[in-house]
Amino acid sequence: MPTAPRIALTSDHAAIPLRLAIAAHLTAQGYAVADIGPAEGQSTPYPEQGRAAAQMVASGECRFGIILCGTGQGIMMAANKVAGIRCGVCSDTFSARMIRQHNDANMLALGARLVGEGLALEIVEAFLAAEFEGGRHAARVAMIETPAG
Ligand code: RB5
Repeated sequence: MPTAPRIALTSDHAAIPLRLAIAAHLTAQGYAVADIGPAEGQSTPYPEQGRAAAQMVASGECRFGIILCGTGQGIMMAANKVAGIRCGVCSDTFSARMIRQHNDANMLALGARLVGEGLALEIVEAFLAAEFEGGRHAARVAMIETPAG
């Protein structure tokens, strides 16, 4: 059986309970989860957390990253500043599948103030189960990596 991909996981203070639920769920499914916090009750800026998880993915230490804040938006913006990161915020399973299939996303952002635990776990599963389709999408993804002026 192939080894389950290692997943970087983090949040800011607005999303700690949901992050812990995701960590427990993924661990129970056999994923190696690198949860870099923060601990309950600790206030932590989302840019620092998003960047740290993104660097773990960009370096190859983790295959995917799952990051959370209140909306998912701020931490996604921070993660996408790291070269090689393609992160989308998802509040539905269709988007979670599509950012893997068409955009080869390597990180998923969630908003803990938007999605409940049940939906969040389904979004995470949709993201991890989907495969990049390559083909015509590969050239477009390569264009994302081309620095703009
Ligand atoms: C924290 O209150 C909130 O601003 C943060 O979690 C996030 O939603 C930012 O994008």
